Amino acid sequence: MLAVEARGLTKTFRTGWLHRRRTEALRGVSLEVPRGAIFGLLGPNGAGKTTLLSILATLLLPDAGSATVLGLDVVRESLAVRRRLNMASGNASFVWSLRPAEVLMFYGRLYGLSGGALRRRVEELVELCELTSHRKTEYNELSTGLKQRLAFAKALLNEPEVLFLDEPTLGLDPDVSIRIRAQIARLRRERGTTIILTTHYMREAEELCDDIAFIKAGRILAQGAPDALKRQIRLGEVIALRLDPLEPAGLASLPGVLECRLREEHLECAVDAADKRLPEILRWLHEQGVVVRHCEVREPDLEEVFVELNR
Ligand SMILES: Nc1ncnc2c1ncn2[C@@H]1O[C@H](COP(=O)(O)OP(=O)(O)OP(=O)(O)O)[C@@H](O)[C@H]1O
Ligand SMILES: [Mg+2]
Repeated sequence: MLAVEARGLTKTFRTGWLHRRRTEALRGVSLEVPRGAIFGLLGPNGAGKTTLLSILATLLLPDAGSATVLGLDVVRESLAVRRRLNMASGNASFVWSLRPAEVLMFYGRLYGLSGGALRRRVEELVELCELTSHRKTEYNELSTGLKQRLAFAKALLNEPEVLFLDEPTLGLDPDVSIRIRAQIARLRRERGTTIILTTHYMREAEELCDDIAFIKAGRILAQGAPDALKRQIRLGEVIALRLDPLEPAGLASLPGVLECRLREEHLECAVDAADKRLPEILRWLHEQGVVVRHCEVREPDLEEVFVELNR
């Protein structure tokens, strides 16, 4: 059964004098997310990611198209679906003077929790999201990472079956990001929660997501499992080599080498997995009597994926 299904969603924002300025945030987005999946939306600023999540989370109405979450229509059955989903944003904000547990108590009541059940849920989430040592800190004094964890905890109050996470690791230290990612993976593993997240980080999407959709200017440009996408777009990791001779024949047909391109002084070889292919390539170069003057492994960034997709 599908957790989320969208068909031809469009959304245009009208702003400015007499609402004459139009921004087409979504131009016909369709997607299907099976239950229990972690699905990633990747795209540059302004691509429409937050708009899409907001529509699916019943916070915004689409102009056209339709979407269901857990089989319920997000427009006509928004009240029923709201009980079963939640959303956390990387740049959420709460009342500045409240402490973490107070924020959670407040939102918990909105979900109809009260008394012992509410207190137990809040305690459980404070612990789960590692907020215990900051219970007494007012919201405005929390660090970015702690604010993020609190937003995450808030989104778990109603034990959602579908969770939307808008940039869950935006602006966080690597170690805090790792913990948040581990928690996302655990949520799916232990509770079967379906998770749709947006991110700018290729690595994050790759590590967590079963499927990824690249979205740009309100359209999905490509979609699939990370590995399949890389093969489709012919983008793996890149091994950049400065060789003598510059471009030895035969390198591009070695196993795992997707493409070789000469850029300035470097030969950039896109490979499926650098840790596996690098030793093989170096051995081969040595056998061919090629001199290796410089060698480095680069991760393709999102930018390159889009350049590639736009070609
Ligand atoms: N409430 C709004 N009013 C007017 N325009 C909006 C509104 N919300 C979003 N937009 C515009 O719609 C487009 C898509 O915005 P959206 O926030 O969905 O992008 P995004 O992919 O989430 O970007 P980012 O990576 O920066 O978060 C942008 O051009 C944005 O300026
Ligand atoms: Mg956004």
